[in-house]
Amino acid sequence: MQQTVYLKDYQLPAYLVDTVYLDFSLQPSATGVVSSVRYRRNPAAAAGESLWLDGQDMELLSVALDGQELTTDDYSVSESGMRIENVPECFELTIATRINPEANKSLEGLYRSGGNYCTQCEAEGFRKITYYPDRPDVMAPFTVRMTADKAENPVLLSNGNPVAQGELDGGRHWAEWRDPFAKPGYLFALVAGDLQCVEDQFHTSDGRDITLRIYTEAHHIDHCAHAMASLKRAMRWDEQRFGLCYDLDLFMVVAVDDFNMGAMENKGLNIFNSRLVFASPETATDDDYIAIEAVIGHEYFHNWTGNRVTCRDWFQLSLKEGLTVFRDQEFTADLHSRAVKRIEDVRLLRSHQFAEDAGPMAHPIRPASYMEINNFYTVTVYEKGAEVVRLYHTLLGSDGFRRGMDLYFRRHDGQAVSTEDFLAAMRDANDIDLAQMQRWYDQAGTPKLVVRMAYDEQDATCTLHVSQSCPATPESSEKQPFLIPLTLGLLLPDGKAVPLQLAGEEVASGSSRTLLVREAEQEFVFTGVREQPLPSLLRGFSAPVELDYPYTATDDAFLMRHDEDSFNRWAAAQRLAMRTMQALLAGDTSSEVVLIDALHHVLTDAGLGAALKAEALLLPSEADIAEACSAADPGLIHQLREQLRVNIAAALRSEMEALYRQLSTVTGFSDEAMQARKLKNVCLSYLVRLGDKAACALVYAQFEQADNMTDQYAALAALADCDCPERELALAAFEAQWRHEANVMDKWFGVQAASSLPGTLEHVQSLMAHPCFDARNPNKVRALIGTFAMRNPSVFHAADGSGYAFVAEQVLLLDAFNPQVASRMVRALMNWKRIEPARSALMRAQLQRINDAELSPDVREIVSKSL
Ligand code: TRP
Ligand code: ZN
Repeated sequence: MQQTVYLKDYQLPAYLVDTVYLDFSLQPSATGVVSSVRYRRNPAAAAGESLWLDGQDMELLSVALDGQELTTDDYSVSESGMRIENVPECFELTIATRINPEANKSLEGLYRSGGNYCTQCEAEGFRKITYYPDRPDVMAPFTVRMTADKAENPVLLSNGNPVAQGELDGGRHWAEWRDPFAKPGYLFALVAGDLQCVEDQFHTSDGRDITLRIYTEAHHIDHCAHAMASLKRAMRWDEQRFGLCYDLDLFMVVAVDDFNMGAMENKGLNIFNSRLVFASPETATDDDYIAIEAVIGHEYFHNWTGNRVTCRDWFQLSLKEGLTVFRDQEFTADLHSRAVKRIEDVRLLRSHQFAEDAGPMAHPIRPASYMEINNFYTVTVYEKGAEVVRLYHTLLGSDGFRRGMDLYFRRHDGQAVSTEDFLAAMRDANDIDLAQMQRWYDQAGTPKLVVRMAYDEQDATCTLHVSQSCPATPESSEKQPFLIPLTLGLLLPDGKAVPLQLAGEEVASGSSRTLLVREAEQEFVFTGVREQPLPSLLRGFSAPVELDYPYTATDDAFLMRHDEDSFNRWAAAQRLAMRTMQALLAGDTSSEVVLIDALHHVLTDAGLGAALKAEALLLPSEADIAEACSAADPGLIHQLREQLRVNIAAALRSEMEALYRQLSTVTGFSDEAMQARKLKNVCLSYLVRLGDKAACALVYAQFEQADNMTDQYAALAALADCDCPERELALAAFEAQWRHEANVMDKWFGVQAASSLPGTLEHVQSLMAHPCFDARNPNKVRALIGTFAMRNPSVFHAADGSGYAFVAEQVLLLDAFNPQVASRMVRALMNWKRIEPARSALMRAQLQRINDAELSPDVREIVSKSL
């Protein structure tokens, strides 16, 4: 049974590493690894401590200390590592092991993907390669030598710069790489195989020429141009926005098909899930293009926020992930529409992170304990972590934030540090008290911000009463108040903004300002307010909180039209739609007309951009609606939401058709064209709900005529959810066209798994026998089983429990060889307490069934915490 690891138990490493030398003899099922590591007692730790090396799933061949072979009397080996007592102050340890990459289906450590060798060492995979202190605060320069069959593996790569290479007898060859930057084991990478590359150059602002290479199997070499262009944009952006230049002479990206996550920032040798590299207009949607650019940026930005400055321990994961997500969000916002990017990030946060924070796995962005660290690569650590970084940016302004970043790098370059060090750099660079910020790192749960307004006509004052609270979460029930920046404006009935004059301040600020909420209860008085205003609160989503203000449907419709903050126009639209859905669930149809009227305005508003229109027209998802209910009935939610979509489509048909026709003439891939396509396809998704012949023919025509994947996929997805003859035609045509493009086929699996039509579960089961499906490939599992479990609430939550039983069975099968993927999937069952009693009991029974089986620590942690 896995032990719980606690932050409070952190201890300095007893031994530090001066150099690492690794020698790989690559063979598919018997790879030899010899590591020669120079250790030195950590002067900051106690003398005489034994040496602990992490290691698992390896065959140990020999151990030598300063050239002297050790016997089993000198060291002890267990399932999780090796201990050597009585080591000198300074010594070299040489360990030979044998590993089996071919048999490694966990995709952690050294494994094979598509016949090539690759590695994934974050968080604790390096210990599957050799015995080593596999913890991020042990950093060292690595030299790596590898030998392999030359015909099968013409390309041999590792971190840093190539030093030498040569030929050997028996058709083998070798290469040696050296990474001069000290790094923890989790940033080590090795790739060997039959790969081609595209090459480009980047000239840094500090005057150096960098070679850029993207490696892939030959048949995808033509699909790497967008990733390469994205990389160059990211490198330039980091120089301009943060003054950060690349530091090696070579930067490599490798695309692999079998990968547990999106991508990995190994020093100088990023490894990517191929779905986040390959793009052509025919195979990738506009959203894919943006996602590729964002992830290429994300991994590149880790070179400074993660690699040059790394984490002291895994509790500090958000130090690198929250900060790097914030940086990639800003990268996308600077290059595309800032408003749209903000809406999309907040939508993700509110749907997934708020739900996580309200469930059994709730944890602070810096957890205090974990059983399996892989389970903490969460929306909380990543997205809420990014929101907390954004709080500094809001509090300090962009110059103040930059001063904090500069100081952070000046102090900590080459170090493994903690979130407190980041906070201290922000504080010291700006000479400001930020002590209260620490609570965002220590307390889980989504704070609730209740705002009430009192208007005094006599005094022309407007008083805002603000109170905050935070629900109990597993780690604590008593919460201290958070520091919450509350950005707001006040709107008069004619839609004009009030200049904001806070009582006691001399001059009025503009029409938008940020109040600092620090206490459980606070009051803010604005003077000179001539008429009763409507407050526009939490503009730009200035803090990751849930806002409670008694807006009426008319208030929301008003804000949708008049708010100068485009984020809040969208937030009002979401609130109005959510209110309408909740009323419908209670049998009240009265606010539907207000919603439809407001959406009519959105459609015809000449002052609103296409992308913002599209965002406003998208209703909250079924999962979002369920999350807002106390005992959700997913079947009823689906039915009522679909009916609402039909009613909206029927009421706005002519406007939507007109807009659809007008936008259909758009071509090209500018931001404008992408935004137009987005709106066009939202209209299409409504029109198909009408379910009549004309609508289905329109969608099918788009499917057939599309010259880009955005349009083709939008039409396919719309038809996949519609019981019409065009559905089968489109699915068959898509399959015939794309059966040799694995990443495109994931879209085909996905739309079918997301279909709410009857028979979907049986269909998903039969698709598991499709020649393109492969349970060992995480992309396939996510596309088919993951989509079914996470993005098809009405079928997953079938009243007979069949969806739960299927997912539980798949979790058990997957867990036997890939615990990371299984442990993501089992989360679909986690929030059983929020569902209506009959289904809730069925979900719990499946969790219990899983719990009774033999499990990986990964799945065990989720299941035991859920029960
Ligand atoms: N550090 C990676 C990122 O920023 C995350 C990651 C990639 C990862 N592969 C992983 C985490 C495997 C755990 C296990 O996106
Ligand atoms: Zn990351």
